[in-house]
Amino acid sequence: MSLIKAENLNKTFRIYSRDEGIRGYLKSLVSREYEEVHAVEDLNLEIEEGEMIGYIGSNGAGKSTTVKMLTGILEPSSGTVEVDGLDPHSQRKKNAMHIGVVFGQKSQLWWDLPVRESFKLLKEIYEVSDEEYQNRIDEYDEVLQLSDFWDQPVRKLSLGQKMRCELAAAFLHQPKIVYLDEPTIGLDVAVKERIRDFIKRMNREKNITVMLTTHDIGDIEDLCDRIVVLDEGRKIYDGELSSLVDRFTSRRMILDVRDEEGFDIQVEGVKGYESNDGRIEVTFDRDVVSASDLMRHLLDEYEVLDFELKEPDIEAVVKKIYNQGIDGE
Ligand SMILES: Nc1ncnc2c1ncn2[C@@H]1O[C@H](COP(=O)(O)OP(=O)(O)O)[C@@H](O)[C@H]1O
Ligand SMILES: [Mg+2]
Repeated sequence: MSLIKAENLNKTFRIYSRDEGIRGYLKSLVSREYEEVHAVEDLNLEIEEGEMIGYIGSNGAGKSTTVKMLTGILEPSSGTVEVDGLDPHSQRKKNAMHIGVVFGQKSQLWWDLPVRESFKLLKEIYEVSDEEYQNRIDEYDEVLQLSDFWDQPVRKLSLGQKMRCELAAAFLHQPKIVYLDEPTIGLDVAVKERIRDFIKRMNREKNITVMLTTHDIGDIEDLCDRIVVLDEGRKIYDGELSSLVDRFTSRRMILDVRDEEGFDIQVEGVKGYESNDGRIEVTFDRDVVSASDLMRHLLDEYEVLDFELKEPDIEAVVKKIYNQGIDGE
């Protein structure tokens, strides 16, 4: 049985509009006009224990809304969610004991308390034994170096220090599932690496299931075997990162031909070509024409002096998904 199972999950927000001024106010008392935003639409998602999935999509795609429904913060408008056998919204407290959450923008720690005290509170809340607590803190400290700022109040920490704490806090009770919503946003490379290292360890060594929302291509490449892409509330891709790239990019072949002037290629699967600095870049769809068939064709027609196949650019694909959604060219 899947650890997380969402079926036909929907979340629709109503946004009430109101005209300006006193008239608008009076009108809003009698008739409330609203617009509906379909933040998540008919989502079907199954996640198995021990998976680490990257949940990606442009801003407003519905990623955080999904996480909020899975954690029980929001009640779905329709459809069902089950997380480890529980309904996260109606069984919110029970569910909370089995999960950890980091929302990049929001803290779960007590602002005025020293880090040490915040963790002691979490220890009590999640009923972690003294022994486990000590072992885990020591272990987490090794990777996240919490002792650097153990006695400082949370509000005095830098963003990177705070995020290291948030991570340790989310994993303190070693829950079954941890949801990380933009955990590396705004962090420098060194801190990101530490955080990735930590997440990886928790996933591999403790078999903790991780659902990760991130804009960072490094996070995705480094951590996620499986990617789910959301576009305007709908799931548009669920699978491996490499196949995602195949699906959303064309392949490119760069050629040096002797008679560049007369170059023209009309082969099915070739999407176009352009000439740069005397070299020709041919864009083709690998599902229609293979690189070797294309090459054979070219060798028949032209004297090819040199050629090179360009690797697909994962970063470009992910950037495109984030910036424009999948179709928005
Ligand atoms: N509490 C809310 N009330 C109204 N609209 C919301 C609310 N939360 C999110 N939305 C809208 O739902 C859509 C999805 O938002 P969100 O899940 O935050 O996207 P993402 O995390 O992928 O950037 C957006 O159009 C957003 O404006
Ligand atoms: Mg979000």
